[in-house]
Amino acid sequence: MKYLGCAYYPEYWGRERVETDAHLMREAGINVVRIGEFAWCSLEPEEGVYTFEWLHECVQSLGRHGIHVILCTPTATPPAWLTDSYPDTRLVNAEGRRLDHGERRHYCYTSDTYWRHTARIVDRLAREFSPYRHVIGWQIDNEPAMGEQGICHCENCQASFQAWLKNKYITVDHLNDQWATRFWSMDYTAWTQIRLGQTKGKHTPSRALDTRRFASDALGEYIIKQGRLIRQHDADAVISTNLNGDVFTDLDFYKVFATMDIAMKDMYFDICTMDTNAMILDQFRSFKPGKPFWITETGAGMCGIGRPSHRDQFKAWMWSSYAHGADAYVVFRWRTCLSGQEQELEGLLEHSGHAGHRYRKAQEAFHQMHRIAPLLGDLPPLTSPIAMVHDYDVMWAYQSNCIQKVVNYGENFARLYRELYRKHLSADVIAPSASLDKYRLVILPTLIMIDPPFAQRLQQFVEKGGILLAQGQIDMKDRNSNFLGEQAPCLLQDLLGVRLHGGMYLFSAVEADESWTRQTHFTVGMTGELDGKNVSGSASGWIGDVGLTSGTALLTFDEHDYQGQPAITENRTGNGISIFAAAIGMDEALLENLFSHVLDRAGIAFRTDIPEHVEVLQRGRFAFVINHLNETVHLNLDSDYTAILGDITSGKLILKPYGVTILEQLPPVTSS
Ligand code: GAL
Repeated sequence: MKYLGCAYYPEYWGRERVETDAHLMREAGINVVRIGEFAWCSLEPEEGVYTFEWLHECVQSLGRHGIHVILCTPTATPPAWLTDSYPDTRLVNAEGRRLDHGERRHYCYTSDTYWRHTARIVDRLAREFSPYRHVIGWQIDNEPAMGEQGICHCENCQASFQAWLKNKYITVDHLNDQWATRFWSMDYTAWTQIRLGQTKGKHTPSRALDTRRFASDALGEYIIKQGRLIRQHDADAVISTNLNGDVFTDLDFYKVFATMDIAMKDMYFDICTMDTNAMILDQFRSFKPGKPFWITETGAGMCGIGRPSHRDQFKAWMWSSYAHGADAYVVFRWRTCLSGQEQELEGLLEHSGHAGHRYRKAQEAFHQMHRIAPLLGDLPPLTSPIAMVHDYDVMWAYQSNCIQKVVNYGENFARLYRELYRKHLSADVIAPSASLDKYRLVILPTLIMIDPPFAQRLQQFVEKGGILLAQGQIDMKDRNSNFLGEQAPCLLQDLLGVRLHGGMYLFSAVEADESWTRQTHFTVGMTGELDGKNVSGSASGWIGDVGLTSGTALLTFDEHDYQGQPAITENRTGNGISIFAAAIGMDEALLENLFSHVLDRAGIAFRTDIPEHVEVLQRGRFAFVINHLNETVHLNLDSDYTAILGDITSGKLILKPYGVTILEQLPPVTSS
């Protein structure tokens, strides 16, 4: 890992602390700090009055200590003079409330006024700080994925939305036609009647989906424009933006990262299970295939919603990030603040400035990384023969629909990924537009919308010998989130060898025995045979009403309305096979059997002798074995290895709780 660091707030702690802090940072093995993302009022205390001296001083001091800088644009927290003098720059939430000063990311991203001020400060920062050679990167804004405040509903955004719709549909009649507005008398007769939709709840799905697309485009454009501005001054530095959460958010990360140098990720390991963390790391390494990504924030301690970590867990998370392809690991934050919204959120240093146990944990980890990474040299990227296809339109369609409580797109995706993780495999997470050439297995997690070019590429992929796993509601809707009035899967019928007449959501307001009124999932069972083994299981989200054309049924539903009908099917096309699971919410045992079958068909080997939550990641001739369990794990080795980190004892690996071992495969002995 090239960069190990922390977020630093010199505007808060004062310039007299910088030398002491820089010294302590060096001792901890920190070689990069991330500064400035919330510092606008210290950089421009009055309109047009710039006070950059403190930042210059700080950047210079850090440079003297050999510490690199990732400089952030401060636009996530505009100063009070700005939001007060220009109220149109403040975001209006879905309830119509204009947000107040003191919140965060409370700006309107379509406001020309806000852009004018943004452009001024960003241009000036880039001009003044790009000459420093140790300013190696720029982070735009802070976590601009909208989760924090939602979508802006101000009149400027309404007008921009209407212009965006006009550009897309040209005439109102065409929009009515595409959105199919006749139900509930929703036909429009003028652009001005069309307001941004709510993104949650029971709203017109087409309007909600276009609202999501518009907001993502508008915010994305605001971020991308900042990147272009910085690039005018800084030809070499890495420019990107730090995105939070997984990819299941309001901003289309594919579009934004396509224009950025690398993907940046804020990753708090303690708030998710490790299979979800691994999925997120896989998602982020997939944005720029072959390129490293940066972890721009990770927890130093408790965030208030996480859990206290074991003393060696920090190291395990760091090595897992590295093995997945991260080239920077930056902790949030240097010192625990005394005041403000996050005063309890633990930094590396205590409130008092004391370098306590969290500092020591990071120090130990960083020194270990500095010692070991050079021994590994330039590692080839982590690769996988498996791709999971993620489509923002599909996700937003589910999320903006009342069916969200029954079928949760992100949860379904993560459940499928979890099966790969349990088998010690990783996956690339790709957009439908990505090439399928390098994969042996492609998974479509409830991809309810599929376009003709992608359908064609899937056909070619299978014909050439690829294995396709299509799961859930496949190819049933158009791009406006309306169901197609034909039999699904519309474009994949031949490939899957099935006809999907409809389906059933497995959700009930009443308990099955009429005892209780409660919103609950109910399950429908299925049985059959996979690889000569009797298999049974159930689904609890949705099941399909499937008829076979050329496919064969592997499992059939054994109860309820679709009793005896196919539940999981298989169909051959050319040299490949398509497996279709007409079920959402399959139980874990069923998923395990299904994935074993699918992986077997794809000729992808997986380990069954390693406990769950022990990651094994191969990069070139090095294998990273990371124990995410709070117990010692013993593993047998299947080949000749030498340990670069950790120990091999009598041909066995003993991984302590949260222990990490890096193995180098020894070349086979040849006789001369
Ligand atoms: C991040 C954010 C940080 C801090 C942190 C606390 O999402 O970028 O500024 O708020 O969460 O967990």
